[in-house]
Amino acid sequence: MSSMKGIIRMSLFGIVINTLTGCDLFDKDSEEKRTAKSNNGVEQNIANQVRAVARSAGVTSDAADGVDIPNIKDPLPQLGMRLFFSKALSGNKDTACATCHHPTMGGGDNLPLSIGVDSVDHDVLGVGRLHRSDAHEYDGGPPVPRNAPTSFNMALWDDFIFHDGRIESMAKEVGQNGASDTSGIVTPDNTDGGFNIMVGKNLTMAQSRFPVTSKEEMKGFDVQPDGSTQDIRDLIINRLIGRNGHEADLEKNDWLTEFRIAYDVPNASAEEIITDPNMFNAIAEYERSLTFTNSPWTKFLEGDDTALNDNARSGAILFFKSASNGGAGCVTCHSGNNLTDERFHVLAVPQIGRGKEANQMDQGRWYVTKDDDDRFAFRTPSLLNVSVTGPWGHSGAYSSLDAMVRHHLNPEKAVRNYDYSQLPSGVQVDKMFENTGPAIIALNRLREKGKSKLPEVSLSDDEINDLIAFLEALTDPCVTDRECMSSWIPTGNDPDGLRLIGKDINGNLL
Ligand code: HEC
Ligand code: HEC
Repeated sequence: MSSMKGIIRMSLFGIVINTLTGCDLFDKDSEEKRTAKSNNGVEQNIANQVRAVARSAGVTSDAADGVDIPNIKDPLPQLGMRLFFSKALSGNKDTACATCHHPTMGGGDNLPLSIGVDSVDHDVLGVGRLHRSDAHEYDGGPPVPRNAPTSFNMALWDDFIFHDGRIESMAKEVGQNGASDTSGIVTPDNTDGGFNIMVGKNLTMAQSRFPVTSKEEMKGFDVQPDGSTQDIRDLIINRLIGRNGHEADLEKNDWLTEFRIAYDVPNASAEEIITDPNMFNAIAEYERSLTFTNSPWTKFLEGDDTALNDNARSGAILFFKSASNGGAGCVTCHSGNNLTDERFHVLAVPQIGRGKEANQMDQGRWYVTKDDDDRFAFRTPSLLNVSVTGPWGHSGAYSSLDAMVRHHLNPEKAVRNYDYSQLPSGVQVDKMFENTGPAIIALNRLREKGKSKLPEVSLSDDEINDLIAFLEALTDPCVTDRECMSSWIPTGNDPDGLRLIGKDINGNLL
């Protein structure tokens, strides 16, 4: 399709010819030198062209450049890490943030849809994690309606959090993670852009206050069934302080020591230091330290021509070129250094699982704006580290990057031919067609009105493989290296004895 690709193929061909004919017919040495030189020239040329198309699409450097990233070695993220891994933050002490956002699982749980509270074995993560059959609202499938996105690179979001963007920064200043001196953050608690620390000083902190309030994620179905979002946060705080009837909730409690160290106030009382903002700020600083952008792609952008192989380069060109210029037009939505426009688009990814309505429907962004054009729209994900954040899509419907990329090219066909065997058993699929059909209709309607940014392109299998090679080059090697990730997994003092020690179904530690 693109002429670039032709050039790459030619240069490979050139090498083959040279090896085959590099014998007595030629002055071997000088011929090899000449060929090497011209190959280098072509290589260099292609590398520069990849950078040029990326640059013209506004993608120029490390997505973390200019962003304030906390150091995991510092006391505050250390406290946040212990909180993130503690099941004491859930109503029935059975679920931690790390249950669905484990650092060794790409910051997710490797499941299409999560199982939070009422699990059979609280510490088993990933495929094989089971919902207890005597649990509230048990239906054999996962209770959480959407795929758990990665908790990596949270510091790089400036505008919207969650698949439907129900947490929004009013300021949307570049590189500020939603923080601003002059305007606030909208959350489901606070729909008028409230501006105070209790909402969160940045988007990551604002988000961290919600998982504890979700009955299927952490709160539990029987804990304060009629309580407000703040009631359950207060319960957790009271539990960590050990007051108001929660003295016996924890068999062991070193949280006061931990909070004093983190906030460097050695003599503070529990009431002074174990507070709602201090808890969620620490969790957010831990998450913001989980920033992984040192990928081959970043190295390539910074000038290392060897960081991308031929396929990944061809894939990059397809990714950044618009469909009208012979590319695949991915950058229309996956734009900027973080490869997301932080906006909402209808893709009609198969709607599986429990959904957000009684009939298992999920209308995404529409719940927030009630604008008809937003029905079935979901936020464009960042693609950094995407090779480790599967399954993909808001419902986790796709378990391979190949299927996820192909879906973009022809959503209707992809839904019609959807391969259910990629799902673990139990995931609710009986209403898939019924609930995805309206999303396809919505996409077609937007296309007719010229309001969809999803280009209609067809790509060859080779081109799709090139795109995937590019996507794989977006992964920071640290995230697949247990040793490198160990800084973000707590060891040593366990403040309440409720630390999640993640293991797979065979009992292997994660
Ligand atoms: C039972 C699984 C589960 C648990 C436990 C859980 N989460 Fe999540 N998390 C999810 C799901 C599912 C979503 C997506 C929800 C949506 O978009 O509507 C999500 C979304 C997020 C996001 C937004 C990411 C983005 O790109 O917008 C962050 C950050 C996050 N969770 C952090 C946390 C923290 C912090 C905790 C603990 C206080 C936590 N999660 C506990 C499943 C879980
Ligand atoms: C119209 C905007 C748009 C275009 C163009 C687009 N995407 Fe997407 N992409 C999205 C949205 C929105 C999602 C999330 C859909 C959902 O959650 O249901 C997504 C999801 C993905 C995912 C899954 C990420 C995850 O974490 O789940 C991958 C991979 C991806 N896109 C790659 C591509 C590639 C490669 C191209 C070019 C062929 C492309 N996208 C073009 C909007 C777009």
